[in-house]
Amino acid sequence: MLLETISLTKRFGGLTVMNDINLTLSEGEILGLIGPNGAGKSTFFNLVTGVLAPTSGKIIYNGRDITYTKPHRAAAMGIGRSFQLNPLFGDFTVFENVTAAHYLHPKSSVLDVYFNTKRYRNNEKHIEKSADHILDMLGLSGVRNELAKNLPHGYQKILGVARAVATQPKLLMLDEPLGGMNPEEISFSINIIRRLRDSGMTVLIVEHNMQILDLCDRVFVISFGEKIFEGSPEEVRNDENVIKTYLGGVTV
Ligand SMILES: Nc1ncnc2c1ncn2[C@@H]1O[C@H](COP(=O)(O)OP(=O)(O)O)[C@@H](O)[C@H]1O
Ligand SMILES: [Mg+2]
Repeated sequence: MLLETISLTKRFGGLTVMNDINLTLSEGEILGLIGPNGAGKSTFFNLVTGVLAPTSGKIIYNGRDITYTKPHRAAAMGIGRSFQLNPLFGDFTVFENVTAAHYLHPKSSVLDVYFNTKRYRNNEKHIEKSADHILDMLGLSGVRNELAKNLPHGYQKILGVARAVATQPKLLMLDEPLGGMNPEEISFSINIIRRLRDSGMTVLIVEHNMQILDLCDRVFVISFGEKIFEGSPEEVRNDENVIKTYLGGVTV
């Protein structure tokens, strides 16, 4: 088991936004955490990545209790994430955005950078190579030297994923990676996420777009902070409760 939450609960004042969530994720799996807007998906992300502390419950990652771990520690332990609102460096190129993200997982000390040591220069070369490899894997090589702010929306979202991949995560968490994409961009992105899993990452995807179902091994559905269903994508599509609660009675 790579990730396990035990009775995870979060309240903001009197408002319970996450209640008693027991979610598990095995190594190599793609898990979809789905639910309508306001269900608590981003809150779940922020709890696991250490941005928020839970009101009660536990988070176990790779056999360790990380319930109150800070975001930089969670990142160093191999938890990488992309954001729903994509914080790119708009005036940097695609390549520079990905190289910069490597420094979130630093192998050089500040002194190395300051004195421009051999170790630092070697590391820089390594980072440039790694960045190009990531761009290649994510289909971004063709826009390598474009400024991030000039990219079409779909590419910007994939660049957000590339930045998360650059931190060399064991667990890759994607918050609404398909948000605002057209159907062509969606199928492109689904292939890319599959490729990332095949390269050895475990993936947790938060989405309200049901098209993500095709990609997931298993799906966990929440609504108003409560689990309403867990099962295979096929089972989710046919579950009355999910259809009623989540889709307002519309079948997909
Ligand atoms: N910092 C906060 N303070 C108070 N309420 C919050 C805070 N962050 C999120 N919420 C509330 O928690 C609920 C879940 O939000 P969120 O996790 O962003 O949902 P989702 O990502 O599924 O759309 C919403 O009702 C939201 O208004
Ligand atoms: Mg959200």
